[in-house]
Amino acid sequence: MDDLDGRKALIKALRLKKGRILDVGMGDCGCISFFLAKRGFNVVGIDYSTNAVHDSKKDAEKTKFKGSFEARLANAENLPFEDKEFDAVSAYHSMHHMENLESVVFEMFRVCKTGGFILISDLHEKGRKAYEHEDDKGEFLRKLEKLLSKYTNSIRKIKTKHNMIFICKKARTGCKGKGVSMVLPKDQLTNMILKKAYELYEKSGCKPGHDIDNWMQAERIIKRKILKMKEV
Ligand SMILES: C[S@@+](CC[C@H](N)C(=O)[O-])C[C@H]1O[C@@H](n2cnc3c(N)ncnc32)[C@H](O)[C@@H]1O
Repeated sequence: MDDLDGRKALIKALRLKKGRILDVGMGDCGCISFFLAKRGFNVVGIDYSTNAVHDSKKDAEKTKFKGSFEARLANAENLPFEDKEFDAVSAYHSMHHMENLESVVFEMFRVCKTGGFILISDLHEKGRKAYEHEDDKGEFLRKLEKLLSKYTNSIRKIKTKHNMIFICKKARTGCKGKGVSMVLPKDQLTNMILKKAYELYEKSGCKPGHDIDNWMQAERIIKRKILKMKEV
């Protein structure tokens, strides 16, 4: 797609000068992948279309990169990479092609380093019109934003002529509360504290099984306190 302002805005949003970037759904021209590799990034582009991988590999042979480019055949729903391998993960005009958006977003956050960026650019209503996509009244972008907000509370949005760019920072998963600051997701923290509470309860002579009302009340209080904690 010929959309230079969108690509430039994406680079600007990235706020990095070098690093390893995964481009999800790079397409057959490797457009944003090439754009990033030419600017010095080490880019791995993935696509589940053999043609896209073949064509972008061929184009890469004729292109000069300041950084590097590698094309791989892979499904974005199940990325063949370790956790936290990349400084940033991008998806440019590809998210609206993904069948299982939830798995793709999960995978993008998984392979991104803590403190790294997930950059998604997709067509907004005007862009959809310009590229002759069906008008969805902004439904796709709303769904995407809701999904992203499950993984981070740091989302910045930039609107360009055709795109909405989401710049998401992958934060440490953890909880911060009065006297507690743990690098653990809330559900793990809840289980850990409840296990400890159960042990203490037993030691005090009251057994949760025997004193069920008290135990349930204690459990409710602990869960409420954890829910009130802020994820960091
Ligand atoms: C519009 S093209 C991508 C454009 C490209 N990113 C650019 O910079 O112009 C969308 C691409 O997403 C790919 N795609 C769709 N679903 C995918 C999935 N689950 N895994 C990997 N690639 C996928 C398609 O094969 C297609 O090449």
